Amino acid sequence: MGKQLFSVDDARRHARKRLPRMMFDFIDGSSGDETLCGLNSAAIDEIRLMPRVLVDVSERSLSSSILGLETGLPFGIAPMGMCGLAWPGADRDLAIEAARRRMPLCVSTASSMTLEQINEIAEGHAWFQLYADQSGDFVNELVDRAAAAAYDVLILTVDVPIPSVRLRDLRNGFAFPMRWGLQQLWDFASHPHWSMATLAHALRNGMPRPMNYATSSNNTTFVRNASRAQANWSFLATLRDRWHGKLVVKGVQHSDDAIRIKSMGADAIYVSNHGGRQLNAAPPAIESLLEIKQAVGPTMPLIFDSGVRNGEHVVKALATGADFVMLGRSAMYGLGAGGGTGLSDVIDMISRETSAVMGLIGQQRPNMIDETCLANHASNLPNNVMSGRAAE
Ligand SMILES: Cc1cc2nc3c(=O)[nH]c(=O)nc-3n(C[C@H](O)[C@H](O)[C@H](O)COP(=O)(O)O)c2cc1C
Repeated sequence: MGKQLFSVDDARRHARKRLPRMMFDFIDGSSGDETLCGLNSAAIDEIRLMPRVLVDVSERSLSSSILGLETGLPFGIAPMGMCGLAWPGADRDLAIEAARRRMPLCVSTASSMTLEQINEIAEGHAWFQLYADQSGDFVNELVDRAAAAAYDVLILTVDVPIPSVRLRDLRNGFAFPMRWGLQQLWDFASHPHWSMATLAHALRNGMPRPMNYATSSNNTTFVRNASRAQANWSFLATLRDRWHGKLVVKGVQHSDDAIRIKSMGADAIYVSNHGGRQLNAAPPAIESLLEIKQAVGPTMPLIFDSGVRNGEHVVKALATGADFVMLGRSAMYGLGAGGGTGLSDVIDMISRETSAVMGLIGQQRPNMIDETCLANHASNLPNNVMSGRAAE
């Protein structure tokens, strides 16, 4: 890569230069007029943390735990389909990082490598993300494959009942399988670094494609804009019976939904608005996090993504009620900027920032961060400070 990355924004800028426009827009784009993606991060920016002083924070650890699993970091990687389009071999790079850092890697139904290969390289740190695709047989087969491949955690994504309209993808003619025209050829020719690397990888491994479909015995083909509306309440009940490991439901924003999902035996709720890629009119995901925490209580684990771009965002999400955080585009921008090295740089950067912010709010471990770290928490408001002083 050669260029140093100081922020996720740097990674995004490099990725934008290096990737064909069609690929960059697939990663960067959102639905509708794309306002929610920016709002997600802006809403996290609005949150203020309370600095605490005179605490010995010289020894800090980023180790955490979620769903009974020990992790090296308080964050992991969100499920993202077709990562191989950001950089050839991206799923392998992600799996290597997951093993090296003991970090959960959510593997999309539409991953560019098989779910079996990824969990092997990730040394058991992969979690499998399931779409309730149109073919019930295919879905059941995926669940059974995940169990056979020793996955501990299954994530059911429920916020894609309707395929969303992504204008950039429509304008760029982005489709599976790839449609070739002058616009696409020019796009690839003007990004030779990506195109040569992808070609070299394709000669050895074939073109990037959703490998869980390609290796299915059900003869199912991946349809990018397929409805995933099979995911309804009765599907969730059936899935709970079929899957004996930990079950997470992803894409939840309403507290009533969260309460019902909890009552159906899910092990965690994954608060997310798909990074603004589904309902553009939805509230920023961080706003739902607080409400859902209050609704389901402190013991139900909450996982959070949508808009996390730095360590400060990670700490703010933890303080707002998340037990664990996932990176979406931040990781993809790293991959696009510099393949495995770019990804590793982004994870290092966000780890350093998380650790520094923890130190500045007087916290030594992510699991100690809670709502009392928020500047507007009752315990930090002037009235409380005053009454505390009067009591002394
Ligand atoms: C390129 C791309 C592909 C994605 N594919 C999936 C997917 O296959 N399954 C899924 O549950 N979420 C998918 N997502 C959504 C992410 O899991 C995550 O919710 C979102 O990226 C978080 O928002 P952020 O990228 O703004 O942080 C995808 C996101 C991106 C950017």
